[in-house]
Amino acid sequence: VVRSASPRLARRSDDLVGSLIDSSTSLLAAQRHDVVRFAVGAPNEELIPVDDFDRYFGQPSPGKYDYGSSEGEAHFIETVVELLAAYGEDTRPDRLVITAGGMQGLDIAFKMFVDPGDLVVVESPTYTNGLSTALSYGASVLEVPVDDNGMVVEYLPELVASTGSVPQAVYVIPNFQNPSGTTLSLERRLMLLELVDRWDCVLIDDDPYGLLRFEGRDIPTFRQLDPHNRHVFSVRTMSKILAPGLRVGWIDASPEFRQLIVNSKQAMDTCTNVPAQMAMDGYLRSGSFDSHLAFLRETYRERKHAMVAAVDELLGEDAIHTSPEGGLFLWLRLQGRLAGIDTSELFHLALKRGVAFIPGPAFTRTDRFTDSLRLGYATSNNERIRVGVERLADSLEMVLAQLTGDFP
Ligand SMILES: Cc1ncc(COP(=O)(O)O)c(C=O)c1O
Repeated sequence: VVRSASPRLARRSDDLVGSLIDSSTSLLAAQRHDVVRFAVGAPNEELIPVDDFDRYFGQPSPGKYDYGSSEGEAHFIETVVELLAAYGEDTRPDRLVITAGGMQGLDIAFKMFVDPGDLVVVESPTYTNGLSTALSYGASVLEVPVDDNGMVVEYLPELVASTGSVPQAVYVIPNFQNPSGTTLSLERRLMLLELVDRWDCVLIDDDPYGLLRFEGRDIPTFRQLDPHNRHVFSVRTMSKILAPGLRVGWIDASPEFRQLIVNSKQAMDTCTNVPAQMAMDGYLRSGSFDSHLAFLRETYRERKHAMVAAVDELLGEDAIHTSPEGGLFLWLRLQGRLAGIDTSELFHLALKRGVAFIPGPAFTRTDRFTDSLRLGYATSNNERIRVGVERLADSLEMVLAQLTGDFP
């Protein structure tokens, strides 16, 4: 029998671009030598309440291993509403649908609002996986620069006008943005709310890090600023606050969209992991969350300062970096003697020398950010942070020596 080649792929497969961040998880797991893992953007084992979760997973509950409701377990939804109220965010069960982490929320958002060819505004740099989800639905992406106050919303009207279309979606990570660590200012939040009203498009408000503020003052969320704005579609996750492996998050959106969100889930995975919701419910109801969050904030504050101190001392004038007031990431741009080093090339050498980061080009579809990189400070203690930055500085010196021909 003569067999033909592989089956023909759908056209959309060209837009399934994957994620260097996710691939780095497997790459790091495969390393047999000691690597400081600045590439990782999540709490590590020591910062996850593992014993508590083990205990709650072990508790018998009726229906625990059944299919659950597509919108999420009713009891758990109530718990989330109460938790959010305690942290100043007023919501209601009919606004919430529980998702398999933030990524499923983003997938549903783009699936519901974006047709092939539609204009989607994103930050530049932006979260790799959010960008690849938009692309997987055929979005035509407009990247808008980020400065120390988040997306430069002032540029937006002109940039959008130059495309000749009106956006279908604006995708923004308002707090301690991944990857830059910057936070969208109050003025810009208000401007964005006005613009999405004017364009009648969805504002995908992806905020996994908002509760992880360790310095400065909270800035109101889009929902707090404009509680009844139906353009705001909020995506949340517990991955960065409790544990990424549990895959629990939620969408908070106008109730008019709830059935469609549920329909999207039913065509995708039927229901969210029931034991994970029950275990998280038990944990949140135990009252341990507040002290855990306070502990995380303090730990991240210390680690951020350890990283900034090491970077300032070891790279000095040859790098500039952001100074996040929360979250997990610092964004670093090489300059001075180090200008011209391509961080994607640096990555391989640095990995061999025992430090991993995410190169800047992973966060854009343009050719920008070859001189930049994302450093995550969450997974390493202060001593390891110092070791990691030393290895990074050594790797940079080696690449520099290769470039200038001074290599021994
Ligand atoms: C901005 C942003 N959105 C969404 C996610 C995805 O979260 P989850 O792991 O819960 O899918 C991440 C994770 O890195 C993120 O940084």
